[in-house]
Amino acid sequence: MKIAVFDSGIGGMTVLDELRRRFPGQQYLYFGDTANVPYGPKSPSQIRSLCRIAAESMKIASPDAVVIACNTASSWAMDVFTEVFTDGVPVHGVVEAGVQSILSAAPERALILATRATIRSGIYRKLLQQQAPGLEVREQACPLLVPMIEEGWIRHPALELVLDEYLRPHRDSGPGVALLACTHYPWIREAFKRALPNWRIVDSATAVADGIQLLLKETTPGEAIPVEWRFTDPDAVPEFAHGMR
Ligand code: DGL
Repeated sequence: MKIAVFDSGIGGMTVLDELRRRFPGQQYLYFGDTANVPYGPKSPSQIRSLCRIAAESMKIASPDAVVIACNTASSWAMDVFTEVFTDGVPVHGVVEAGVQSILSAAPERALILATRATIRSGIYRKLLQQQAPGLEVREQACPLLVPMIEEGWIRHPALELVLDEYLRPHRDSGPGVALLACTHYPWIREAFKRALPNWRIVDSATAVADGIQLLLKETTPGEAIPVEWRFTDPDAVPEFAHGMR
């Protein structure tokens, strides 16, 4: 099965990593829109038109399934992808998976950490309130993080300062489950753990892989096939992400 994985940049590689670990014998195409990252500060119509261009470009590769490994795109443009991928090609976003990752831990409170566009969409709050009415939901946009991660500043002292600024208001309000609702954030999971010691940190990758498992007829481990990488600006891929390739 050929699975296309999309993100605005290198964030979706954290989801791809889990997919390759669980299903090494599948064929993967990774599409990162590194020429246009970050999507988080952009308007919904800008996000949607970039997603349409990316979807049409991925469609040429005729994938059997598509994973929108970007919360910002999943929040605002799932219908754009499903319009482009007709003919029964399943399109999986990360938002439902993120919601499941929180609910499976049955917490009293949840903290959504995401881009400004994802928080603005209100999609996590809405779905969580529908599915767990008594759950306390806190939200925090962290707009500087994606540019810093794309810049390769994953161990930079500035990162700790920025995280402290965003997370200080939530630090002592745990315990609860904090969702890394941006696929870039697992690249700096350890820094999140240090900044939020009272919170259990989760992401959506495992739940996305569970969804893909249902599509696969054959899940016995096969020989790993090299990933087909496509970046709209290959020179913008930071050094640390090359290790995964
Ligand atoms: N990885 C994307 C997400 O999950 C980052 C969006 C951005 O480019 O700002 O939201």
